[in-house]
Amino acid sequence: MLPPPATESLSRLAKPSNPFTKSITRWFGLGCIVVFVLWVAGPYVGSIGWVPAEVDYYPPLSQNTNTSQESTQVDNELIWDARKEEVREAFKHAWAGYKNRAMPNDELLAVSGGYSNKYNGWGVTLFDSLDTMWIMGLRKEFDEAVESIKDLHFRPTKPNHYAPFFETTIRYLGGILSAYALSGNEVLFRLADEMGQLLIPAFDGTESGLPAYSVHVETGTVLADAGKTTVLFSEATSCQLEFKYLSKITGKKEYYERVQAAMDVFYRANVPDGLFHENWSFKDGKPTGSHFTIGANADSGYEYMIKQWLQSGDVKAKDQYLKSMNGIINNLIYVTPNRGLMYVGDMDHGSMVHRLEHLSCYLPGVLALGAHVLPRNDPSFPDDVRELHQWAAHGLAYTCAVSYLDQKNGMGADILHMSSSGRLWINELNKWKREGRVGKPPGVTDPPAERDPGKRDYFNNFPNAYLLRPETVESIFVLWRTTGDVQWRERGYAIFKAINEHTRTEYGFSPIHGVDGSITHLDDMPSWFLAETLKYLYLLFDDVHSITSDHWVFNTEAHPLPIFEWTEAEKKAFTIP
Ligand SMILES: *[C@@H]1O[C@H](CO)[C@@H](O)[C@H](O)[C@H]1NC(C)=O
Ligand SMILES: *[C@@H]1O[C@H](CO)[C@@H](O)[C@H](O)[C@H]1NC(C)=O
Repeated sequence: MLPPPATESLSRLAKPSNPFTKSITRWFGLGCIVVFVLWVAGPYVGSIGWVPAEVDYYPPLSQNTNTSQESTQVDNELIWDARKEEVREAFKHAWAGYKNRAMPNDELLAVSGGYSNKYNGWGVTLFDSLDTMWIMGLRKEFDEAVESIKDLHFRPTKPNHYAPFFETTIRYLGGILSAYALSGNEVLFRLADEMGQLLIPAFDGTESGLPAYSVHVETGTVLADAGKTTVLFSEATSCQLEFKYLSKITGKKEYYERVQAAMDVFYRANVPDGLFHENWSFKDGKPTGSHFTIGANADSGYEYMIKQWLQSGDVKAKDQYLKSMNGIINNLIYVTPNRGLMYVGDMDHGSMVHRLEHLSCYLPGVLALGAHVLPRNDPSFPDDVRELHQWAAHGLAYTCAVSYLDQKNGMGADILHMSSSGRLWINELNKWKREGRVGKPPGVTDPPAERDPGKRDYFNNFPNAYLLRPETVESIFVLWRTTGDVQWRERGYAIFKAINEHTRTEYGFSPIHGVDGSITHLDDMPSWFLAETLKYLYLLFDDVHSITSDHWVFNTEAHPLPIFEWTEAEKKAFTIP
């Protein structure tokens, strides 16, 4: 067994290209805070916690450092600290509601104070919340939660219990692994390996080697799913980061081997333009249908390409990422006619579907991350392509953000129907270049918020739902970390205030209908709200810059996993290229 987290700096990763530009005073202040935190937290984290021996933060690439503004710097830090506290308070409210009314069941019903069991009934909200607690410094809550699962085994909670592979992987396994990496707690190590053993038969139950939809908790037989013959692109691929890290810490080859074999099915398909079909056959591992999307059913497949490279230097994954992003930029990214809002839609049987899903709002964060971490001297990623990715990241993240700021209640709808007279962004951009680059590039112009629904260039889908989803604040967080533009923080704070005001209930937080009108609360509290939405908001306002992209990579449920290098011995044993 290997020691848990790899927190040492890896030279392979690109560092921010700008030199540190904050003043000595600020550095000294932050240094003191780090020393103080190490001193206070030392007994809890030993030598392996999230506060590493070396300083684990750096200022983001900054456009806003201006020493003559130094006098306002301290005030600003106090403001962001206070805002961070507001997020922590919201988390504590949500956690208390879950703990008092729903634990050890899966999720709280935030209106009635009841509970539901949609994800195996082992307490998914607890598993999804552990690392958030650790990051927020809620150590008492963390210790109590781990204590409450120390004797747990993943046994059936209902007759004929099948565990859904994808949700169980990203929420439970991802949550356990991240909490383990942060705390080094051995209970979590045991649970991670048990969960891995429970889920691994999913790969052996199909001819193609793609994971089946679900696994029987006792027997390991699989259900390729009632009547379905296909697996979704996102569900088949969003296990890479989790199982590869699990393989690293347990030394078990099977974890690496099974997920890599599934990944190879997709590489072998060599899809045109790097665009992956929504559905794939379990039997022969070939794509079916003619629907291309980067949203629901495909999303994290694209996200995990650059993240596999970031996690352990997987070059094949990086090459596929660049090819796929190219395909997305050349085919799926559009701008609206009047406000010039950039969006990413779907392609169905060759025709464009002008629709922006909230779920697709992770893409700008992925593009910004890739542009930030890929090395400057990589010939496969020249500067003009990096700039293209940065513009796309900015434009898409802005549309996602303004889709909140436009609404009466300050939250964005789950699906936007975009004006069908949108134009392909890359064409507009090339025209702008040919015509002498006057003004800002198209799609990157930050038009002001618009209260009149008739002038927005899109309509909210009925019923105007905001489901406490994280993707927009996730991208805002990455844009802030990679650009240092404080406007991203301000937009994120406006969004947090709206969520805190309009979705809070007596017991927790609830999804709502009516982002632009009168609000109805839905009786639910998805675990992703604690795992993702509140974590990204907290980190957005966090000046200590914990969980940086040179040590950590977030899984698709916002669980940070350590970046590591395979040793020569592991490469040989697992046949890693
Ligand atoms: C720096 O900030 C000051 C005060 O806000 C402003 O007057 C000045 O123009 C800024 N300098 C630069 C180089 O942006
Ligand atoms: C892909 O599968 C999903 C889920 O089974 C289904 O809803 C969707 O219609 C399928 N898409 C195509 C293009 O076959």
